[in-house]
Amino acid sequence: MRLNAYLARTGVASRRGADELIKTGRVRVNGVRGELNTFVKEGDVVDLDGRLLVPQKLAYVLLHKPAGVVTTASDPHGRPTVVGLVEHESRVVPVGRLDADTTGALLLTNDGDLAHRLAHPRYEVEKVYEADVEGEPWDEALARLADGIELDDGVTAPAHVRRLGSSRVELSIHEGRKHQVKRMLEAVGHPVRRLHRSRYAGLTVEGLEPGAWRELGPGEVDSLRQAILRSR
Ligand code: URA
Repeated sequence: MRLNAYLARTGVASRRGADELIKTGRVRVNGVRGELNTFVKEGDVVDLDGRLLVPQKLAYVLLHKPAGVVTTASDPHGRPTVVGLVEHESRVVPVGRLDADTTGALLLTNDGDLAHRLAHPRYEVEKVYEADVEGEPWDEALARLADGIELDDGVTAPAHVRRLGSSRVELSIHEGRKHQVKRMLEAVGHPVRRLHRSRYAGLTVEGLEPGAWRELGPGEVDSLRQAILRSR
C-alpha cells in the first residue's frame, strides 16, 4: 500500500495530511526517508520522528447524525462535529457529507479505499432522502425530479421519487453533489424545510437515536463491498 494510505491507517493523519508529513522528511520506512511514491509491504517498519507506527484495525461505524453537527473532523467555527460524536478508538472519518441541518444515516470509517469508492459517483451507491418541503408538490413536479433536472452544475441523473405525504417526498439518488436534494427541490418550487437521509447503501438508522452510533457487523461490511462490485 502507498505510504500515505499506510499512515492514514495508523491514525496519525488523513491521506492529505500524510503527504505533508512525508514531504517534511519525518517519516521513515525501514530507516530510510519515505517519499510520496514509497510503497509499504508486509513486514516493513514505519516510523514518524522515530515513533513506530502500527496500522489500526479497520472500523466501520454508522451514525444517526443529528441536526446542528457538521460533517468534518474539525470545524473552524467550533461547531460540534460528527467525528467528535463518534468516540471510537480508530480514527474514523465520514464518507461523503451531510449538511449541518440534515439528519440521518452517515457512515464513518478508516478504510480509505472503501470510503473513496463509496463516495465516487461511478459506484452509484443508493442514498434515500425524506424531505419535508414548502407547498404541496404536484405530480408534474415529482415527474420532473424523477426525469432529471437542470441545475447550475448540470442535469441530475434520473431519480426514484415517492410522495410520502402532501408536503413530504422521498428521493432516491446515486449522485452526491453539494446540497443536491435541496437544490433539486428548490428548482421545482418546493424548498426543503427538513431533510433526513433514511438509507445509505442499504443501511438505515433504525434503532439508533439521533447522535447514537453503532459498529457495522461483518455481514454489513461485506454488503458494502458487494454494492461496489455490483456497480462496477
Ligand atoms: N442533499 C442536500 O441538499 N443536503 C444533504 O445534506 C444531502 C443531500
